[in-house]
Amino acid sequence: MGKIIVNGGNQLSGEVYINGAKNAVLPILAATVIGNNESTIFNVPDLRDVEVMEKILLSLGCDVKRIDKMMWVDSKPLNSIRIPDELVREMRSSIILMGAMLSRCGEVIISYPGGCEIGPRPIDMHLKALREMGAEIEESHGFLYCRTNGLKGCEIQLDYPSVGATENIMLAAVKAKGITVIRNAAREPEIIDLQSYLNKAGAKVNGAGTSIVIIEGVDELVDVTHNTMPDRIVAGTYMAASAITQGEIVVKNIIIDHLQAISAKLREAGCLIYNDSNSLKIIGPKRINSIEMIQTLPYPGFPTDMQAQIMALLSIANGTSIISETVFENRFKHAEELTRMGANIKIFGKVAVIKGVKELTGAKTTAKDLRGGACLVLAGLVAKGTTEIENVYHINRGYEDFHITLKELGADIKMIE
Ligand code: UD1
Repeated sequence: MGKIIVNGGNQLSGEVYINGAKNAVLPILAATVIGNNESTIFNVPDLRDVEVMEKILLSLGCDVKRIDKMMWVDSKPLNSIRIPDELVREMRSSIILMGAMLSRCGEVIISYPGGCEIGPRPIDMHLKALREMGAEIEESHGFLYCRTNGLKGCEIQLDYPSVGATENIMLAAVKAKGITVIRNAAREPEIIDLQSYLNKAGAKVNGAGTSIVIIEGVDELVDVTHNTMPDRIVAGTYMAASAITQGEIVVKNIIIDHLQAISAKLREAGCLIYNDSNSLKIIGPKRINSIEMIQTLPYPGFPTDMQAQIMALLSIANGTSIISETVFENRFKHAEELTRMGANIKIFGKVAVIKGVKELTGAKTTAKDLRGGACLVLAGLVAKGTTEIENVYHINRGYEDFHITLKELGADIKMIE
């Protein structure tokens, strides 16, 4: 399963280059099946989740080639409508293929993605919207059987700005008859990247990045080349690594606007941040300031995907901080692991109260999910003694060479397979 071993206490310094965003490239790879076309995607990160998506595309019959950070997908030979069960179980966001496959084949069979480490994560909004567009969806024996005689554009009001539902509807709408309007759409930058890919392929999508996305259906798509946007959460994680180790790290290849909410909280914590348009330098303070309140919210609010990492930081702050997790249920599993390292954290439902301690001590811990795993590595960087983090496969879902990059920045860290 692999584990990471960190000996804490080293200050990090140096430069880190941020690769393409997992959450941008996954829906883009799902979108490659919509047209009878070829897609060449650059800046594709080497991650477990991307590998799973590649396997799904191959199992559907697509031709896929991967050379370094480039992935080429030819969806012309696609010949299956069944998404393999074991791959859906491994990556819940494969549900994004529903809209794309309905658009391409008018049919798809996919297993129902059950609960996962960060709460039940229902897909009711996805199903409701696709039904409104003319899909018939039957749920039986854990599978979703979806078919349509042709999707039709319509007005969709989301109850909550769900990232996945917004993307699924966009993919379904690209070749639907007429115009689809998504209201209360998610505004995450990854949705802008998806729009940009789709429009280069000949789609007519407008409004991504705002709460109203409008898609005018087109008949066909053309070959397309796209460069994936940088990963704002990976960038935020290295910023937190600098903050927690009193380090001085330069983070390169970023879009500074995407990092405003994270930078604001790290400044409150006492960090100094200097930036130009596509890089920043972050200097960690001698002692982290506590933060009165951090509330996770849909973009442009503070991202839930940075909640665990900021909790590691606040666990050694000079006072008490509160984190309110409003996006997901049950996303505090890392708190218990931090407590093993000497942190003082109390959880009250969706609220965590973190009373900063002077120092953390190394312990044997287990990553329960992707960002929770990153949080434990960050805590290990500053803890006295040795920290072990089990279940590294969670971390590999979203961080490329995490331990190698941290080692290059000066951490005493290694991975054992
Ligand atoms: C995406 C990201 C994930 C990030 C999350 C929030 C990808 C691959 N994953 O996940 O890293 O943490 O956005 O920024 O891009 N919900 C429902 N019904 C639905 C859909 C969602 O109740 O039909 C709820 C979810 O349970 C959750 C909230 O809405 O509580 C937000 O979920 P959503 O925005 O859909 O997240 P994902 O797309 O799954």
